[in-house]
Amino acid sequence: MTNTPSITFSNQQFAHEKHEGLVCVFMGATSGIGLATLGRLVTIVRSSTFYVLGRNPERYATELGDLRKMAPTCSIIFIEAQVALISSVDTACDHIKSSEGKVDIVCMSPGGMPFQGAVYTAEGLETSFAVSYYSRPRLVSNLLPLLCRSPSPRVLSILNGTKEKRIREDDVGLQNSWSIISLVNHSTLLTSLAFDHLAATAPGAREITFIHATPGFVNTGTARTRYPSRQKDGWLKWLLLTICQNVSGCIIVYFGMSIKEAGERQAYYLTCDQYTSGSWRTNKHNDLQPDSAALKDYKQRGWAEKAWEHTLVAWDRALATGGAVTRRDILLRQKLYFVLFVLANDLVHFLFSPVFPLQFLV
Ligand SMILES: NC(=O)c1ccc[n+]([C@@H]2O[C@H](COP(=O)([O-])OP(=O)(O)OC[C@H]3O[C@@H](n4cnc5c(N)ncnc54)[C@H](OP(=O)(O)O)[C@@H]3O)[C@@H](O)[C@H]2O)c1
Repeated sequence: MTNTPSITFSNQQFAHEKHEGLVCVFMGATSGIGLATLGRLVTIVRSSTFYVLGRNPERYATELGDLRKMAPTCSIIFIEAQVALISSVDTACDHIKSSEGKVDIVCMSPGGMPFQGAVYTAEGLETSFAVSYYSRPRLVSNLLPLLCRSPSPRVLSILNGTKEKRIREDDVGLQNSWSIISLVNHSTLLTSLAFDHLAATAPGAREITFIHATPGFVNTGTARTRYPSRQKDGWLKWLLLTICQNVSGCIIVYFGMSIKEAGERQAYYLTCDQYTSGSWRTNKHNDLQPDSAALKDYKQRGWAEKAWEHTLVAWDRALATGGAVTRRDILLRQKLYFVLFVLANDLVHFLFSPVFPLQFLV
């Protein structure tokens, strides 16, 4: 277990070494653990560039102003992006690629507990699944050529490393069996497998340190998610979800790590020498952990490749869908066709009714 004073000391040492000219990309750093990590990192590097991908520039204005005050020598650039959309991640990466010759750090943490249930993006991916998993390796893949040009590239996904469990192998994308527990299990396992796959096979990625970290309970102080809907879910489900939401909220508030400590600990992954190149899982104490039994089994059965194949197909499908078809759109379209059919039927009846001259045709 790496204790907090030694983590803080290591970060301070890094600050004294005067690291300059880093290019860092953050996704999910508009609040919570990501923001705390960014807030710590900007104070321990100098003359570096930070890109922050986020969906709402107005809501982030105060934090952005604070960050710029905390790091006057650094350039902090907000890129407006819907990080749940693969196409939007691509556009943000194009922007970074056109401005930078390398990327040193990629830190990803968008997510949260989707108590509101499955909500689909315009690309047809479930939103929480997209931000917890699909968008993250997409960002890394897009930036791989730039990461490979860094002398010490690091990729950190703050999610649930070390907690890999069994998944529904016949429904990896959770098209038919979405639930909060499945979402957590699938995004956790897929992240670890994706990092293993990239570290082992992506051209030039052998020098990159990939860390899938679990932050433990962190009192982020942010509203976790939208309140479950009584109308939509029915009384029983609403009650159950409300209890889960409040219990998890209380655990996080009373037993969670402070946001400051979480920021310090996640920044440590990005600065210290403890983690060499390769793909690693770490617990909430920043300790490297051996593969869980489930992860070991999946790797032995060739799932790093299978999971990557699944990811490539899901990205292609999302881009092909490209905002044209969501499940909601399909339902709306079906309703529209039904209304048109009824109207057409009525029109035909009217045209051939006794009050209209077309009756002579029949
Ligand atoms: N906090 C914990 O106790 C805990 C424990 C275990 C694992 N984790 C994991 O650690 C990661 C960070 O947690 P956190 O507590 O820092 O989360 P958070 O405070 O709830 O949110 C983090 C970020 O996710 C972004 N985000 C959420 N939903 C989004 C969406 N649909 N589209 C675009 N952006 C979205 C938020 O953007 P906006 O600012 O625009 O809302 C914010 O930047 C998550 O993956 C979480 O599952 C957290």
